[in-house]
Amino acid sequence: MDTTPRFPTLRLVQHPLVQHKVTLLRDQQTPTKIFKELVDEIAMLMAYEATADLPLEAVPVETPLEKTEGRQVSGKKLTLVPILRAGLGMVEGILRLVPAARVGHIGLYRDHDTLEPVDYYFKVPGDTSERDFFVLDPMLATGGSAVSAVASLKRSGASRIRFLCLVAAPEGVKKLADAHPDVIVYCAALDRELNPQGYILPGLGDAGDRLFGTR
Ligand code: PRP
Ligand code: URA
Repeated sequence: MDTTPRFPTLRLVQHPLVQHKVTLLRDQQTPTKIFKELVDEIAMLMAYEATADLPLEAVPVETPLEKTEGRQVSGKKLTLVPILRAGLGMVEGILRLVPAARVGHIGLYRDHDTLEPVDYYFKVPGDTSERDFFVLDPMLATGGSAVSAVASLKRSGASRIRFLCLVAAPEGVKKLADAHPDVIVYCAALDRELNPQGYILPGLGDAGDRLFGTR
């Protein structure tokens, strides 16, 4: 996993399987069913990287032969927080890796004219101050949605927050880092720029529409 000096909060997941699958995602010919499967698989592979430094604690375990000491992830259950809608596509893949994780939801959409986030739903498990949160959204474009989602989580008491996305624009990474420098961002691709409509270039188009077959 790479860090870039330009963006100290960014962690680029360079694994060949992730890069291969992101290329398939970008392809405009990729149909909805495959697109959904790819988002699910990439999210799982990214979660493997993003959980690499979770703290462990010693626990006793009895094998069929003797007692020994094992290690388990310590603390309260990890909490996944997809940003609706497109973040939903990343949940199941990560749950296959961390089946005990809790799932909260943040509802946000970008106003088409202003590109400002409009929030409409917030529900996360209690004990927020004791949990590690993974905010999920395939796209980090202007960064408005990510900044707003993280701010809502912090208002509810959360302090340990990571952001997992598939494709990021430099503008969004900077905006999120300026507002929340404590939030590490994991992404599979750092793209070139935003177009005037706020879409990432080269990007993959509208992630929500491609996941759910809407347009
Ligand atoms: C997309 C995407 C992010 C947001 C990113 O959602 O899934 O949530 O845009 O853009 P930003 O970084 O400029 O805020 P959208 O608003 O299209 O909503 P949807 O998932 O309901 O389609
Ligand atoms: N949201 C998307 O779904 N795609 C983009 O390129 C930008 C925001």
